[in-house]
Amino acid sequence: MEYQEILTRRKEMLSRPVRPIPPEKLAAEHKLYAERCKRSIDIFEKAKGMIPGGVEHNLSQNKPFPLAMDRAKGYKMWDVDGNEYIDYLLCGAPIILGHGYEPLDEKIIEIIRQKGPATGLTSEYELLAAEEIIKHMPGVDMVRFLQSGTEADMAVIRIARAFTGKLKIIKIGGSYHGWSDQMVYSIHIPQTGALEARGIPAECFAHIVDVAPNDFEALEKAFQDNQDKGGIAGVLVEPVGGESGAHPVHPDWNRAIRRLCDQYGSLMIFDEVVTGFRLDMGGAQKFYGIMPDLTVLGKIITHGYPSSGAVAGRKDVMKVCAGGLGEKVFAGGTLAANPISMAACYYALKLMVENDAVGKATAYANRLAKALNDLFATRPDLGFFVYNFGAIMHYMTTAFFSVDLAAPDALAQILTRKQVADDYQVVTMAHGLCTLAGTRMYTCMQHDDEALKKTLEIWEYLLSLIPRS
Ligand SMILES: Cc1ncc(COP(=O)(O)O)c(C=O)c1O
Repeated sequence: MEYQEILTRRKEMLSRPVRPIPPEKLAAEHKLYAERCKRSIDIFEKAKGMIPGGVEHNLSQNKPFPLAMDRAKGYKMWDVDGNEYIDYLLCGAPIILGHGYEPLDEKIIEIIRQKGPATGLTSEYELLAAEEIIKHMPGVDMVRFLQSGTEADMAVIRIARAFTGKLKIIKIGGSYHGWSDQMVYSIHIPQTGALEARGIPAECFAHIVDVAPNDFEALEKAFQDNQDKGGIAGVLVEPVGGESGAHPVHPDWNRAIRRLCDQYGSLMIFDEVVTGFRLDMGGAQKFYGIMPDLTVLGKIITHGYPSSGAVAGRKDVMKVCAGGLGEKVFAGGTLAANPISMAACYYALKLMVENDAVGKATAYANRLAKALNDLFATRPDLGFFVYNFGAIMHYMTTAFFSVDLAAPDALAQILTRKQVADDYQVVTMAHGLCTLAGTRMYTCMQHDDEALKKTLEIWEYLLSLIPRS
């Protein structure tokens, strides 16, 4: 689906009231879910006393309770009560070969047996992993491995400032670049500023310039206005749009950023934590043919194995990470580039190529998007729709991410729309579909006809619960 059509349909959705499931039907779904998931509820009740909120995972459906998973294989997961799910959360994007992919797991088990987890010294796998990333990503000459996407986003800001000698970082509203102090600004929903920044001093945002997505004028003005205030060191951008495309990018947006970065001597930074090795083996930079100066990588490079993050990019820029005391940009971590993570990176990327994992996951996503849109077309009164950037799918049922903050009832709108989306998600979960935040689905190379058929059946059932208008 093209950008303009997404915007038109989103606008139309926001102009209509939300379509809740009638209370008695919703209550029956909650009852079913609770009956099926007794052990998950039990674990949650106990965890609440020891873990704040009873759960760590922000991406999962945690209301009315988080599901405790037992195991996963291919595109399926089973919870501790033995219920089966079609998984479209896929750990928040990194799983593309499928869960428990044996050729990868066997290599890792071999390394653990033969070499142990970590020594704090370098290993040959570090070189092999770097080589593999550089081979695929056109904008990458060098790689600095770290331990998470959040760490890599922290480091990339420092690298950009050190290299350019400039101060300010442009962050696009609604984008997520991890939870470090400077980056928890206008996250999830554009223009929300410090709404989610509890515990972070306002000073941390002094050099962050918040620009609304696809606002070409504001972008150019941000470069101009900050010329005498320290200048723009870099623009950090999710190349398919904030929240992995929940706020989709205008087709000219990335090119405009590239042009302005060149004009003002600033660095263009692609956060490819989700798009790298999912949209394309060469990331969004290859997919769109736009070269960033720096690239942030995360969970996907180790296919879900721990300690996963990296800053990568142009050699002259990356060299600021080397040098003597006081010269180099300080960034690292004890477990960064440990042999297990590096071997996971090396073998996962090789296996993705051998299996055409991205091609298969994309083909499935295209089929599913079409089939779901055909199904939604049978209920024009709802206006639901799906769009995808390759193996990254977004579905809109209430558009709570996109409420206009200038509206007088904006907060109430967001809360109501989010609640209804959560209710829909309870139904899909109760019947065996696991998605992300009630708005997103990731696909892997193992999703098949059976997964597609079952997914459609569950959506059809959800639609049947919402009265026609
Ligand atoms: C685009 C993007 N950047 C950064 C991060 C943070 O990565 P991590 O959760 O590994 O810290 C995420 C996490 O989902 C992400 O989607």
